Amino acid sequence: MDQQIIVSGIQPSGELHIGNYLGAIKNWLTLQSERKYHCFFFIADLHSLTGEFDPQTKYQQIISLTRDLLALGLDPDQCTLFVQSAVPEHTELSWIFSTLTPMSELERMTQYKDKAEHQVTNVNVGLFTYPVLQAADILMYKADRVPVGEDQVQHVELTRVIGRKFNNKFGQTFPETLPLLTATPRVMSLTEPVKKMSKSHGPKSYLALNDPPELILEKIRKATADEIGVTNLLELHKLFDANGAATQKFLGEQARGTLMNVKLKDGLAALIANHFARFRADRVKISESAVVKILKSGAKVAGGIATETMTEVRKKVGIRD
Ligand code: TRP
Repeated sequence: MDQQIIVSGIQPSGELHIGNYLGAIKNWLTLQSERKYHCFFFIADLHSLTGEFDPQTKYQQIISLTRDLLALGLDPDQCTLFVQSAVPEHTELSWIFSTLTPMSELERMTQYKDKAEHQVTNVNVGLFTYPVLQAADILMYKADRVPVGEDQVQHVELTRVIGRKFNNKFGQTFPETLPLLTATPRVMSLTEPVKKMSKSHGPKSYLALNDPPELILEKIRKATADEIGVTNLLELHKLFDANGAATQKFLGEQARGTLMNVKLKDGLAALIANHFARFRADRVKISESAVVKILKSGAKVAGGIATETMTEVRKKVGIRD
């Protein structure tokens, strides 16, 4: 059977929170187990350099994120897991794509506009050409589908624009890659329930996957419990509640006006702590050397395909005979 190619990346920028898990990684876990796909999942370390970062911790962030992904169940026998910068062809293809990308297309990107607004003292060129590198990540493997959140759809559209421009100028090479959108819940901040959960709002506002049960309880107990806050907590409860019975009970109580917030909070904390119990236990068992070994073999597989794609691309562009 011909396998469809799936490509997706995640930036290393510190610990994962439950929003990252429910919004992306949970989906990756489902995809890798479906035989009809060959999944390429990578750590987008080069993309992460466009934000503020500390060079002293970047490497550990890469290792730690990979360890998290493995502990969550990504299986190197079922998917190709690697670090973007370990396949340097990504940047070469990105350069070639940048010569095909109109400035005006990049100026339209909402993520760029957003980030430029929030990162006023560091509006670097990498932030601007970020989607071109992303197009290279995707088309290097001639992906059919890219599982992403709503916020990345525009980048996948741009990927198609760039691929088409390449095909028109140099001959049919790249497919029309489509986003693979699954219903991903919007997980909201614990402290400011109208905002999306994000590490930038402070440690009390999010639940990290690695938080011990006591800390989960402490953070949830302190979560804002106004009307919107309670709605969010119920929503979260539903997402982690396997059969939904306990959630139904809380919803019933809410409708009758008898819901006790502390019961909901304690119940939710227990659910989440339980959900990640195996993750926490597995995580500490994965050594750095095991992580490095897995990434190395992933980069070898990805690099093999990148070599093929770039041989074809260089020739078609005319810089090789
Ligand atoms: N831009 C993506 C994000 O921030 C990360 C990413 C980089 C990516 N390259 C990619 C996602 C290629 C999918 C495919 O979420």
